[in-house]
This record gives sequence, C-alpha cells and structure tokens, in this order.
Amino acid sequence: MIEIRLAQVSDAPKLKRLTHIFNEGDSNTIEGISESLASNTMEIVCVANDKEKLVGFCCGQIQASMCYQYSYAVITELYVTDECRRQGIGRRLLIATESEFNKRGVTHFHIATGDDNTAALALYQSCGYEGTSVMLEKDMKANADKALVVPVKSAASLMPHICR
Ligand SMILES: CC(C)(COP(=O)(O)OP(=O)(O)OC[C@H]1O[C@@H](n2cnc3c(N)ncnc32)[C@H](O)[C@@H]1OP(=O)(O)O)[C@@H](O)C(=O)NCCC(=O)NCCS
Repeated sequence: MIEIRLAQVSDAPKLKRLTHIFNEGDSNTIEGISESLASNTMEIVCVANDKEKLVGFCCGQIQASMCYQYSYAVITELYVTDECRRQGIGRRLLIATESEFNKRGVTHFHIATGDDNTAALALYQSCGYEGTSVMLEKDMKANADKALVVPVKSAASLMPHICR
C-alpha cells in the first residue's frame, strides 16, 4: 500500500530525483531541498511512499495578503511517476496537502496548470477546482531589456501631509 505522508528532511535525495524529472533538470540541490524542508514554514510538501521509494510529491505555499481576511494556499507542484499514474495517488497527494493546510486554518486554494494538461485539469476538476484564469511567468534575467527602474518610496519616507 502506498503511504501518503508529510515529507521529511531525510527524503531530500529522493525528492531531488523526482523534482529533477518533474522540472526537466531545473531542480534544487539536495542540500537546498533539505534546508527548505527543515525551515520553510510557509510550504507544505507531501510525498507518496512505496516501501522505501518515493513515487510522487505535492507542494503548496501559504499566501497571505492585506487584501483578504483569509490566507490561501497555492498548490505549486504535483507529480506522480509514470508507472504509478491512474491509481489515485495524485488525488490522494492533493487531498492530503489540502488537509494539512486546512489544519492551519487555510480554506481557499489556488492551482495553475497548462490548458493542455488534460490529466492535471481532469484531476483538479474532479477535486472541486474550477475557473479559467491564466498564469504568466517572467524570468527577470532573460528579460533584462524590459527592466524599468521605478523608485519606490518606503512608508517612513512619505510626508504626513500627502497621506491624508
Ligand atoms: C497530473 C498527475 C499528477 C495525475 O496523477 P495520477 O496519480 O495519475 O492521478 P489520479 O490517478 O489520482 O487521477 C485522479 C483523476 O484525475 C483524472 N485523470 C488523471 N490522469 C488522467 C489522464 N491522463 N487523462 C484523463 N483524466 C485523468 C481522472 O479523473 C482520475 O480519476 P479516475 O482514474 O478515477 O478516472 C500526473 O499525471 C502527473 O504527474 N503528470 C505530470 C506532472 C504534471 O503535469 N503535474 C501537474 C501540473 S503541475
């Protein structure tokens, strides 16, 4: 039986292997993964463990904004190895991650995926996600020519008379 549980620091080498496949080579180091698992309190990572092998993982981050009375979580990654797909592991990982956030009072979830990712869309919709928003990405290094320098004043430097 495949066990779904929170990731532990000792999972770092196995998570390195999975994130490397998921991110097509653009993954963190084992040390970076260990450090993040040990200290990033804003992130929840659940793993699917088959005996001593990890066959999937799901990550989410808590977001809090002055705009909302509630915090919400963004599910940032969900991956199941090829050979273990269509066995309900993706769904179990997602639900376990949501449950862990819910223990911390989070009731709202956001998720983004490609509009051609049939498997992920079907899974998310079957778990109650809906909507059609588009998420765009930007790499500042690759877009250096589009960088503008806009001075931002800190609150302390603002004059009281303009803050009526
Ligand atoms: C998306 C992904 C995590 C699904 O994992 P999974 O373990 O195969 O999913 P589950 O077995 O839990 O599927 C749950 C439901 O999702 C839907 N689903 C999953 N894969 C599907 C597919 N290939 N085609 C159509 N529907 C699919 C089905 O409704 C399925 O329920 P069912 O099997 O009872 O019909 C997996 O395909 C994956 O890792 N893909 C590559 C990474 C990725 O794209 N991640 C998501 C974007 S960040």
